[in-house]
Amino acid sequence: MQLFLDTANLDEITEIAAWGVLDGITTNPSLVSKEKRDFKKLVKDICKIVSGPVSAEVVSEDVEGMLREGRDIATWAENVVVKCPLTPNGLAATSKLSKDGIKVNVTLCFSVNQALLAARAGAYFISPFVGRLDDINEDGCALVEQIAEMYHIQSIETRVLAASVRTPPHVHRVALAGADCATMPYKVFKQLVHHPLTDQGMEKFLADWKQAQAAVAP
Ligand code: E4P
Repeated sequence: MQLFLDTANLDEITEIAAWGVLDGITTNPSLVSKEKRDFKKLVKDICKIVSGPVSAEVVSEDVEGMLREGRDIATWAENVVVKCPLTPNGLAATSKLSKDGIKVNVTLCFSVNQALLAARAGAYFISPFVGRLDDINEDGCALVEQIAEMYHIQSIETRVLAASVRTPPHVHRVALAGADCATMPYKVFKQLVHHPLTDQGMEKFLADWKQAQAAVAP
């Protein structure tokens, strides 16, 4: 499963990219708004740091507006992916953009049937929102599993990008559920690497090493 960061913050992206395990970036209008920068320049800067897919979302609600924005966004960088919402107009735009060869990430997916519709429209990624389903007392990871299974049974190539991932257990659950990618905030990405026993182990190894070196020093 590929690991994506869900952020538009360049410092966060630069730090995690240095680990060599960052496969892509997702942004949304809320995350971009936090950065208080020109959208196009920001996305171009992100695409310079990360060579994998970088999702940038349209904000129009009508098909013509989504197409205008999507076609423009697609020219910003080789690795940019246009994000369209899972609405009737979003599906219509996805269908047209994907026929033009533009990769589309269909976002705000909350059911298997919505995922089927997105795939039929030609989506490159489908983004089921795990945390937001958990917020309303449903099981977001179970939805990811069902979509992955349905796509497998139906030989659908649309990639399952588990989104709204909020905790490390979400990450391992969606990996076991068959997601192709998971996108998570910086805080969750950092949590993945840390374990108290790793820290304690490092401390002990280094202390033993220093002690031994002091004993053999000429
Ligand atoms: C996905 O692409 C979205 O940007 C994101 O994962 C939403 O997460 P949230 O529900 O924590 O806001």
